Amino acid sequence: MNPSRNPFIAGNWKMHRTVSESVSLARAVADGSRIGPRTEVVVAPVATALAAVGKALEGARVGLSAQNVHWEDQGAFTGELSPGMLKDVGCAYCIVGHSERRQLFGETDANVHRKLLALRRHGLAPIACLGETLSERESGVTYDVLRRQLDGMLGALEREEATALLTGLIIAYEPVWAIGTGRTAKSTDAQSAHAYLRDRIRDRFGEVADTVRILYGGSVKADNAAELLAQPDVDGVLVGGASLDAAGFARIIQAAG
Ligand code: PGA
Repeated sequence: MNPSRNPFIAGNWKMHRTVSESVSLARAVADGSRIGPRTEVVVAPVATALAAVGKALEGARVGLSAQNVHWEDQGAFTGELSPGMLKDVGCAYCIVGHSERRQLFGETDANVHRKLLALRRHGLAPIACLGETLSERESGVTYDVLRRQLDGMLGALEREEATALLTGLIIAYEPVWAIGTGRTAKSTDAQSAHAYLRDRIRDRFGEVADTVRILYGGSVKADNAAELLAQPDVDGVLVGGASLDAAGFARIIQAAG
């Protein structure tokens, strides 16, 4: 196993929990989980709770992620937060391109590309999401969609620039039909999609593909995490609903070893 691909378990709390509830949940995750020596754990609270959760997690083995970011450093962008502002409150990671942002808030691959570059410039690790819808899967275009999204997110970079962007990048394959539905992808289908993404990165940019962590997301729970994590190209999981329960999330963390 490539050491840069240590297991990565992320909890996306979406638009749930107040500041004090988020702090309690973060403490419960940090205190109640047995985190294996190689495993990385990250939680992504709502933006209003980032500073307080960041403080509560100081010294703990649980990292802090935002759920979105703008690519500019500052300016007249009402409602947005810059990478520097996220770093300022203790974030080391940021989710970008989540399907809810794509479907409900007009997020595009081109904007995700700008966000990836901005995050890297500030030393934050992006967790870049992609995945097909149910109708795309049923009409047999899953891999075309994944290729289009991946190529759009990575952009037309030269190999050298791409290597800087890809080193330490985290990608999350999240089939839209599996998110919040209780319908998880079969572990073998997840493996095929992950291997496809890694091959595509290798074709375009070479061996750096073997350092990119590819997470699976979509109805991950304590009882299906181990099977997904056992797949050779599944380097971790991005967990929504099940990450709001500290005990269940702790069992998912344990499944990573
Ligand atoms: P879910 O969400 O685990 O509730 O399906 C995953 C995600 O949206 O990241």
